[in-house]
Amino acid sequence: MRVAMIGTGYVGLVSGACFADFGHEVTCIDKDAAKIEALKAGRMPIYEPGLEDLVETNVSQGRLSFTTDAASGIRDADIVFIAVGTPTRRGDGHADLTYVYAAAEEIAGLIRDYTIIVTKSTVPVGTGDEVEAIIKKTNPDADFDVASNPEFLREGAAIGDFKRPDRIIVGAHTERAVAALRELYRPLYLNETPMVVTDRRTAELIKYAANAFLAVKIGFINEISDLCDAVGANVQQVAHGIGLDKRIGSKFLHAGPGYGGSCFPKDTLALSKTAHQANSPVTIVDTVVEANRRRKETMVDRIVNAAGGSVAGKQIAVLGLTFKPNTDDMREAPSLIIVPALQQMGASIRAFDPEGMEEAQKLLTAVTYCDNAWACMEGAVMAVILTEWDQFRALDLERMAATLKDRVLVDLRNIYSPQEADDSGLSYHSIGRPSPGKAAD
Ligand code: UDX
Repeated sequence: MRVAMIGTGYVGLVSGACFADFGHEVTCIDKDAAKIEALKAGRMPIYEPGLEDLVETNVSQGRLSFTTDAASGIRDADIVFIAVGTPTRRGDGHADLTYVYAAAEEIAGLIRDYTIIVTKSTVPVGTGDEVEAIIKKTNPDADFDVASNPEFLREGAAIGDFKRPDRIIVGAHTERAVAALRELYRPLYLNETPMVVTDRRTAELIKYAANAFLAVKIGFINEISDLCDAVGANVQQVAHGIGLDKRIGSKFLHAGPGYGGSCFPKDTLALSKTAHQANSPVTIVDTVVEANRRRKETMVDRIVNAAGGSVAGKQIAVLGLTFKPNTDDMREAPSLIIVPALQQMGASIRAFDPEGMEEAQKLLTAVTYCDNAWACMEGAVMAVILTEWDQFRALDLERMAATLKDRVLVDLRNIYSPQEADDSGLSYHSIGRPSPGKAAD
């Protein structure tokens, strides 16, 4: 099938490359000429494991191309995806749909034969109706359907998520559109990936409900971890104990410094706005949004307490800056709250992140950026693990104790065992787990 993908951001680029890898002919379109030139030269605008190779293979085999010329990609496409950004609108928290509607107008003027326009961007309920209305108004003779096909790609694992999804959601109102989307996803259909076909509004809401539910799960375990700290229990064992109940499930029960990234913070806010507008508030989600905001701030108190009550005049080594490992994405990362707060209190920050430092340098100033974890800890009194990159999981803790002047390690991702850290001579502080000697690890 011929596919046009409007928007070469994270979702558009990964989806476009994966559809090409399924054997479809894909044109990725973006207005940003520098981005398209870079992609043509094989340079990726984001760090995502496996993406560069996937793009290179499919470009060289003639199934994937990049252009700024929307007309050339859209005119002959069977399916046009809208995968442009839907940032949080300044001031009110609503999703900003300017780019989606602009894309709809552009598509309307270009389509010739029957075309399916599919929103892949995360859009509030009812956006598909508006896209349909725009196309009808701009081109009353157009033969088209509008469908919703939300993505569930995790950064850092996006290609695997695309090729081995738990399910595919298709919101469409005609058999013709459903049949075409089944054909598009045929390689997965043959693998027996469930395809859930719904009306468009339901599909749009499924995306928000899924992300909000996961955010609630994280918010819940984070609060339970505070309770564990207060009563001397172990949050990892609580998570294991409840997660074995199949109704709960073990995923997304890792306590940490609060969720970040491009999706959960934005989508929970947008869902909340939609719900308030519909006079049907999602109070659980509202509570989690606020708890997650506070969570990042309370991490600062933990670090200050671990430092003995003050960080003034102290050098602190921060390991990991991105919102999660295997990405260079800094959006809504806990580091953006924690690092400036520590600086404000008089600490000087040394930092290392395997992929995120270029992005971080634009957002976090007056930080000494280091070449690796050991260089980062040199001269520091304490270290704080903010992101659970694999390369931080097996650091020599005895060497760490010998390097850090006050021997303090604050592990906000619970990647080490309290006993092991204690045995290495570190004063170890993690989330929701008793220190050795206080209770069983
Ligand atoms: C998420 C969804 O998983 C994906 O389906 C959706 O389409 C986009 O948003 P992503 O933001 O890439 O993906 O990352 P994810 O792995 O879901 O993590 C989000 C945040 O939650 C991170 O800040 C992570 O550190 C945090 N998290 C995740 C936890 O604190 N605990 C957990 O148990 C899981």
